[in-house]
Amino acid sequence: MQAVAVAQPNIAVVKYWGKRHSERNLPAVGSIGLTLDRLETRTRVRFFFGEPGADAFRLNDRPASEAERLRVSRFLDLVRQRAGCSGRAEVESRNTVPTGAGLASSSAGFAALALAATRAAGLELAPAELSALARVGSGSAARAVCGGFCELHAGCAETGCDAVAEPLPAPPDWPLRVLVVVVSASVKSVGSSAGMLQSAATSPFYAAWIDGAAADLAEARAAIAAGDLARLGPLAEHNCLKMHGVMLATRPALIYWNGTTLDVLHEVARLRRSGLRAFFTVDAGPQVKVLCLASEEAAVAESLRRVAGVRDVLACGPGPAARLVSEAP
Ligand code: PMV
Repeated sequence: MQAVAVAQPNIAVVKYWGKRHSERNLPAVGSIGLTLDRLETRTRVRFFFGEPGADAFRLNDRPASEAERLRVSRFLDLVRQRAGCSGRAEVESRNTVPTGAGLASSSAGFAALALAATRAAGLELAPAELSALARVGSGSAARAVCGGFCELHAGCAETGCDAVAEPLPAPPDWPLRVLVVVVSASVKSVGSSAGMLQSAATSPFYAAWIDGAAADLAEARAAIAAGDLARLGPLAEHNCLKMHGVMLATRPALIYWNGTTLDVLHEVARLRRSGLRAFFTVDAGPQVKVLCLASEEAAVAESLRRVAGVRDVLACGPGPAARLVSEAP
């Protein structure tokens, strides 16, 4: 009654920010993201059916915080309910994605947990069902169960059965790369769920953000289908800055960037003026993700590494869907 799964983070090019139902974690807008090939979360879930007791959660060889343990345990309750079983669980996770620093650790984390936990409980969910389950843990996790590009639909069903991610076809020979520019190792101060609720309640730009989502999604779908970075990149930057505009105008303000974040954004603009095709996106944290093409990756990475305050530049490509593996974390 155990299973091990691996998942990779999914970085949004059209962002999800806002919920239409907070308890079921239903997004107010659709989003489009790309699963990366480099960073990973590997998770083992073991159920001890019929054995009462609290669930245990170890993260990177240490007992997780009580808040993290509870979040995982509540998620396992959904799996137990669905499988019609009871009993405590032991969960071990190893993360090469820095946790809570805006590097989409929750996307890989809940995608791996959803797959490992359902299999350990004897369930075999269809991809859309697995995506819907992962979404309850974290919106971006619904996307991380898919490989490559995918779209998480906002859906309209009360149950959330249509708020699931679906793969988006992209040309197989598109040499797209993502440089993850690490500018801070600290954990973000306001988690995305709490931040989204604050934005919906207080940001004067929230309604405009929701209104603009459909057009951004349509433009991104077309750019991805055509394998056109010159079309996808400016849209991704615009969508990202709109989301951060909503965040900045939230009360209290959500300022996820640090000074180096801004320096990196300026450097990306400078690289573009010099003729390179590089475009940024930033999630609910200070790290910057830069989209570029394989032929220009070395030049872009070298310039980004030279920005004062940049701690690391991780070169990634499109990655696979969440999957079962045999080797424990
Ligand atoms: O995955 P969540 O529920 O923590 O929310 C993700 C929010 C953003 O990363 C800011 C945007 C996105 O679509 O991934």
